[in-house]
Amino acid sequence: MNLENKIVIVTGSGSGIGAATAKLFSAHEAITIVADINLDNAKKTVSEIVKQGGTATASKVDVTQYDEVEKLIRSTVQTHGKLDVMVNNAGIGGKQQLKTADHTHEDWHNVIAVNQTGVFYCMKTALQQMSKQGHGSIVNVASLAGLKASGNNLSYSASKFAVVGMTKSAALEYARKNIRINAVCPGFTHSALLNQLLASAPNMDEKLKRFIPMGRFGEADEIAEAICWLASENSKFITGQTITLDGGTSL
Ligand SMILES: NC(=O)c1ccc[n+]([C@@H]2O[C@H](COP(=O)([O-])OP(=O)(O)OC[C@H]3O[C@@H](n4cnc5c(N)ncnc54)[C@H](O)[C@@H]3O)[C@@H](O)[C@H]2O)c1
Repeated sequence: MNLENKIVIVTGSGSGIGAATAKLFSAHEAITIVADINLDNAKKTVSEIVKQGGTATASKVDVTQYDEVEKLIRSTVQTHGKLDVMVNNAGIGGKQQLKTADHTHEDWHNVIAVNQTGVFYCMKTALQQMSKQGHGSIVNVASLAGLKASGNNLSYSASKFAVVGMTKSAALEYARKNIRINAVCPGFTHSALLNQLLASAPNMDEKLKRFIPMGRFGEADEIAEAICWLASENSKFITGQTITLDGGTSL
């Protein structure tokens, strides 16, 4: 995979899948902008990258705020002259796991704002720049919950189905403009987000693993590999696709 000197933004890269992805891009000699609402965590990711000999900078962004997303893209282009890769990974789960009739307005609005509107803002601004420069690759982090039903999770499910839809529709629009847009759909993967789910009910770990043919959760590094590959020229004839990384759960 040749990612040398590619200018890459990864949102939500202060922890979990985003942090692993930023580290992997940097290990492949990309220049990575570690963008997260939590600046301290973004700085931690950057210091780990720098310790490994990579190049990265931390940037504070709330993807639900259009002006902040615009500023992130603008400052990246001012500093580096281009934006080769945009990874839209920032995401949250609902606070409560309840059936639809009890799903809270708070969870609905918060989850849709980050997971769906945030991805729209990031795609819109990245595509403006990528259209100008005549190339680019976007990878959205959706979920197995964006392909299959999942109970007690309505806003999350709605937002991730939306990410898959936005990926396909935008890919169609930009296919002739040398801009590819793909998505990964992870199943349960070790991260802060999964820990929140595991803490939501007794024996959750066991219950969830029963649905995974491989009998284990995914690792953030494993998802990062697919994201970097989709971003790279190695996948240059692929657009509008989803890669499911779920240990066989969808089978
Ligand atoms: N872990 C899983 O099992 C799993 C499965 C499928 C999909 N995903 C998706 O993977 C992505 C990464 O999640 P993760 O599991 O690594 O969780 P995580 O909680 O470890 O990481 C999410 C990151 O997003 C950041 N973030 C949250 N709101 C933000 C905002 N408004 N603006 C900018 N950054 C914000 C957080 O600070 C955090 O660093 C999410 O989109 C999630 O939905 C995770």
